[in-house]
Amino acid sequence: FDSPKPINEPVLSYRKNSEEKKALKEELKNLISQTIKIPLIIGGEEVYTEKQMKCIVPHDKNHVLGYCSVAGEKEADLAIKAAISAKNEWNSLSWNDRQSIFLKAASLLSTKYRAVVNAATMLAQSKTVYQAEIDAVCELCDFLRFNVKYLDQIYASQPLSDEYTWNKSIYRALEGFVLAVSPFNFTSIAANLPAAPAMAGNTVIWKPASASVYSSYYIMKLLIEAGLPPGVINFVPGKGSEIGKRFLTCPNLAGVHFTGSTKVFRGMWKVIGENIDNYKTYPRIVGETGGKDFIFAHSSASIKALVAAMIRGGFEYQGQKCSAASRVYIPESIWFDVKEHLLNETGKIKMGDVEDFSNFMGALIDEEAFIKVTRYIQYAKESNEAKILIGGHWDDGSGYFVEPTVIQTSNPKFITMEEEIFGPVLTVYVYDDKKLEETLKLCDKTSGYALTGAIFSQNPTITALMSKILANAAGNFYINDKPTGAVVGRQPFGGARHSGTNDKAGSMLNMLRWMSPLTVKESF
Ligand code: SER
Repeated sequence: FDSPKPINEPVLSYRKNSEEKKALKEELKNLISQTIKIPLIIGGEEVYTEKQMKCIVPHDKNHVLGYCSVAGEKEADLAIKAAISAKNEWNSLSWNDRQSIFLKAASLLSTKYRAVVNAATMLAQSKTVYQAEIDAVCELCDFLRFNVKYLDQIYASQPLSDEYTWNKSIYRALEGFVLAVSPFNFTSIAANLPAAPAMAGNTVIWKPASASVYSSYYIMKLLIEAGLPPGVINFVPGKGSEIGKRFLTCPNLAGVHFTGSTKVFRGMWKVIGENIDNYKTYPRIVGETGGKDFIFAHSSASIKALVAAMIRGGFEYQGQKCSAASRVYIPESIWFDVKEHLLNETGKIKMGDVEDFSNFMGALIDEEAFIKVTRYIQYAKESNEAKILIGGHWDDGSGYFVEPTVIQTSNPKFITMEEEIFGPVLTVYVYDDKKLEETLKLCDKTSGYALTGAIFSQNPTITALMSKILANAAGNFYINDKPTGAVVGRQPFGGARHSGTNDKAGSMLNMLRWMSPLTVKESF
């Protein structure tokens, strides 16, 4: 049977008096009023450990949403066992049976659980209603539905045969288990990391980020309600430094699906490299690891569109998207106008509790992020190569709030032009219009990352030149649009260089990584 043709999940408006707004407000109240206990889920069993971690609300940091069990080595070993023993039964289900579980999960998410998953994401990750809706509901529904379709297409792809020989491709799952390590910043990415390999017939150990384990737990429960058999995805929150090696050095490790920091990814890759003689098969390593995403404007740019991209690309979700704009190149000839408009618009941004739907920004995820981001701003304040044009203040009295901040630097290699900050900080370098090509080359050579980038130009010849010089500086390249907000099925997402293996989340390419095809030739 052919699976339904996927369409992107419509983004709801949450307008005043709308049904969805009422339901969401209700759910926010409900989640705030309780403190839940989150277990590990191993082989379908809930496992509670003595060691617990707190799930807090970043914009109201003393509010505890729940306590989550923390896996140690014993639980890690249990999870490996559960994943391996669930494999045969999972593989004995037909593709139709498997796919219907994920399509049902998407359907539950878009209806019955829309409000609770959005509310959990808003509270645990300090996302505004719009940011939660496009991530936790829409993008996750899209990942589930589109990946089912990509697998349909892969399974249907067969080699040539003739009347004497029948050639077949059998798309087996990998031999062993897949380790999924997910980030805090997208509920959808967190869930897709285990779901994509599982869909292709693998069994998975999912280690969610501690800061977003709360919303990940709601997704895990939803997958179980949709029919996911025990042991197919094992939910194992814990500290990478305590349990990571247990998974990574296991001879049955067949793959890693990762989104997170470059440092952690490289550390994992090194452990796998050191252990390479011990695996039953070479582990597939798929990772997306951050960015230092640029906006590059030409003098022909539409100032309104450019500034909107700077604000939305730089400050939505407090700049905590790996795709967030963070270094900006503006020609001198338009800087006066851009600056005026930018400062005006930035000055209007409302920041605060996300339960107030009129706020455009919430708080940073945790104390570690707060310290890191404010250090960069402090460094810029003290440098004679930079000045703060707007923002630059912070307050962690009730939550981890940092103002949207614009830095201007005279040094195109200034630290905030080079390093990933993961906060609401845009650094602008104003270049000499006559040095366009030189500055484009400089942009290409800055930071070492290559995730997203946007150019602004209304001159087709210049657009072509910019696109050519920056062709390898991003995995997702935007012309006259912000560099964030890739949509599944439309802009497959991922970057190269230090940004990852570029296996494009939500794509056929990604799904192909989770299988080990068998070619069969049968002679008649
Ligand atoms: N896919 C997200 C975006 O495009 C980032 O992970 O913004």
